Amino acid sequence: MVIWAGREFHEEPGKIRVVSDEDVYNTLSMRKVLEICEDVLRWLGTGKIEQRFVPSFRTATGLERGCFLLPHPCWVKPLGVVGNKVSGASNINPGLGLRGSQGVVIIREDDTAIPFAIVDSGTVTSIRTAGHAGVGAKYLAKKDSSIISIIGAGDQGRSHLAAMNELFDLKEVKVYDVYKEAMEKYLHEAQEKYPGLTVQLYDNAKDAVTNTDIICATAKVDKPGPVKEEWIEPGVHVCMIGGGVETKFLTKADKWVLGLRENDLDAFISGATLVSDFKEAGATASLWFEKGALELPDIVLERRPGRETEEERTAVYHSGMGAWDIPVAYEAYKLAKEQGLGTVVALYHPKPYTTLK
Ligand SMILES: NC(=O)c1ccc[n+]([C@@H]2O[C@H](COP(=O)([O-])OP(=O)(O)OC[C@H]3O[C@@H](n4cnc5c(N)ncnc54)[C@H](O)[C@@H]3O)[C@@H](O)[C@H]2O)c1
Repeated sequence: MVIWAGREFHEEPGKIRVVSDEDVYNTLSMRKVLEICEDVLRWLGTGKIEQRFVPSFRTATGLERGCFLLPHPCWVKPLGVVGNKVSGASNINPGLGLRGSQGVVIIREDDTAIPFAIVDSGTVTSIRTAGHAGVGAKYLAKKDSSIISIIGAGDQGRSHLAAMNELFDLKEVKVYDVYKEAMEKYLHEAQEKYPGLTVQLYDNAKDAVTNTDIICATAKVDKPGPVKEEWIEPGVHVCMIGGGVETKFLTKADKWVLGLRENDLDAFISGATLVSDFKEAGATASLWFEKGALELPDIVLERRPGRETEEERTAVYHSGMGAWDIPVAYEAYKLAKEQGLGTVVALYHPKPYTTLK
């Protein structure tokens, strides 16, 4: 900490630590992120986080879904920081050999609004999404879950395996992706990283979700997911952060939980305009929610029950929000600073202007 005018600041005012994606990757552990995500859910449930839910806006021309920008402003009172993730994504990036989603998290002192960190949002997003899916699974999946299915072997498919592996004594992972090359790459990486785990690839989604405990719906699909509701067996928990599982499963599950109603119901219903499977489920789901679907903070705070029987089919649906990004990026900043990582940039002169140009 730096003292300025008798107050403590993370960095000297006017200077900002820029933390790269590589620094985040090298410093943050999945175990720590799971702890942070659980803290976040407790803070959300006790009014310790304030957020604004800004609708994304689309910036591409001539493309139906194209390119969008998504701000996530958030004040995390227990950490004394306020921040905003400004991320964006474009469907044309992969074709250009670029990451689909790009962005930064800007973190400031909460009572002076002085910015002190800019953290790349790539790994932060990837790891915190699996982190909150993991906390959902901790409370809703069977405690002795040992087999998981990954539907969509991309970035989220990787981080979800890392999260579930921290929480459960995993024996097997079943993988389905529409692209064989994506699955083969996943197999190679998973075998190297988790030598004790059996990794099975499937050429169809049905076999990949038969005889499993947890399904991670981590595919990027614009149409109904390849996994049919009727294939999901009793006792299975489904983590729904992307596509992969038919959305109507949400309305058929014995327990359907949202990360946070204020954020996720809107995301879910606006999704209904984009995907035909969502259309029907979106309308039903909003009515169904009014009748009492659950929210994850209430489960973590034990105000409502998590899994109650071995047979119930459960699902958690959640979308992105600043409450996930800012605390995880802040942890990456603190670790980077402790380890002397990141680049400190003198961005501006912090004193008031005394002359006009
Ligand atoms: N809820 C959140 O906070 C959150 C955060 C990040 C990403 N996401 C969502 O998660 C999803 C995955 O993101 P990612 O970054 O891992 O993307 P990615 O591009 O790295 O991976 C997606 C994978 O899905 C596969 N896929 C596409 N269609 C498929 C199909 N029909 N069946 C099976 N697999 C299919 C692709 O081949 C690819 O390997 C996206 O929908 C994204 O919007 C949600």
